[in-house]
Amino acid sequence: MLNRPQIEFIHAQLLPWMRIGPGNARPDAEYKFLSRDNDDGACSAVIRYPAGWRREANEHLLVAEEFYVLNGTIEINGVEFGHDTYGYIPAGTTRKTMTARDGAVVLTFFNGDPQLVAGEGSSDEITRVDALHMPWDMTLNDPKLAHLGISRKDLRSDPETGERTFLSMILPHSEPPGLKGPQECHPTVEEAYIVSGSLTGPHGTMAPGAYFWRPPQIPHGPFGTRWGCVALIRFLGGQHVNEWSKEDAPFDFDAPYDPILPENLQAFAYAPWTPPPRY
Ligand SMILES: [Fe+2]
Repeated sequence: MLNRPQIEFIHAQLLPWMRIGPGNARPDAEYKFLSRDNDDGACSAVIRYPAGWRREANEHLLVAEEFYVLNGTIEINGVEFGHDTYGYIPAGTTRKTMTARDGAVVLTFFNGDPQLVAGEGSSDEITRVDALHMPWDMTLNDPKLAHLGISRKDLRSDPETGERTFLSMILPHSEPPGLKGPQECHPTVEEAYIVSGSLTGPHGTMAPGAYFWRPPQIPHGPFGTRWGCVALIRFLGGQHVNEWSKEDAPFDFDAPYDPILPENLQAFAYAPWTPPPRY
C-alpha cells in the first residue's frame, strides 16, 4: 500500500482524465491517479462523476475507501456527501446505490486494488464527517510550528495503526522567523492535497490541486504561506511524530518550482501557479 515513489509535488489539474473501465470501482466515471502502489494496487486518485452517474446493484469492494468531496454531491446508500464532506467506507461494505445527480469531483483513496465484487458484502458501515461545518481545533500545535498558527479538523484516526487523516489550516502571512528554520521528518508516509490557498516550501509554491506523497524520513520544510492554506493530510504506516533537524534551512516565498517526481510524472512538471489578481 505504501510502496510509492516520492512525488513532491504535482498539480493534479495538469494530469489527464481517463475513463474507468468495467470491473473497477465506479465504471464510466473518470479518474486521474495521483499515486499508486504497483504491488497491491492501492491508489490515491481524483474521481470525476458526470452528472446523472448512477449505480444500483448490490456490490462491494475488498478494500477500504476514504474520500473527500471537492465539488458537487454524491449519494451512497441514501447518505449524502456534499462538498467538503469526508467519508470512510470499510472493506466489504455493501453498496446498494450510488448517485452523482449533478456530478461530483472526489479526492479518493483506496487501500488496495479497487476491483468491484458483485453481491452483498459483510458490513453496512459508512462514516460521514461534515468537515465544512466542523469547528477548527486551534489548540494543537508543535511549538516549532507556532509561526504557522496551524489549526486542524480531525477526520479519522485508526486506533490500531495510529494512521490519521485531517484538514490542516495555516494562517495567511505565515513564514518561519528570520526566513529560516529547522526541517521536519516523520517515521510515516505523509500525503497531502492542497484544498485552498497556497503553501510555499523548498520545492516551490503549491496551489489548490497540488499533491504530494512523501515516503518516511525525508526532511522537508520550512514552509510558509502568503494566502493561507487548507490541506487534506494523511499520515500512513504508523503514528505520526515530528522529528526536527539541528540545522536550519532557508525559506523563500519566491522558491522556483523544483519538484521530485517519478519518470511517469515528469511530463507534467511545470507550475501553473499564478497569483490571484489583486486589483
Ligand atoms: Fe511534515
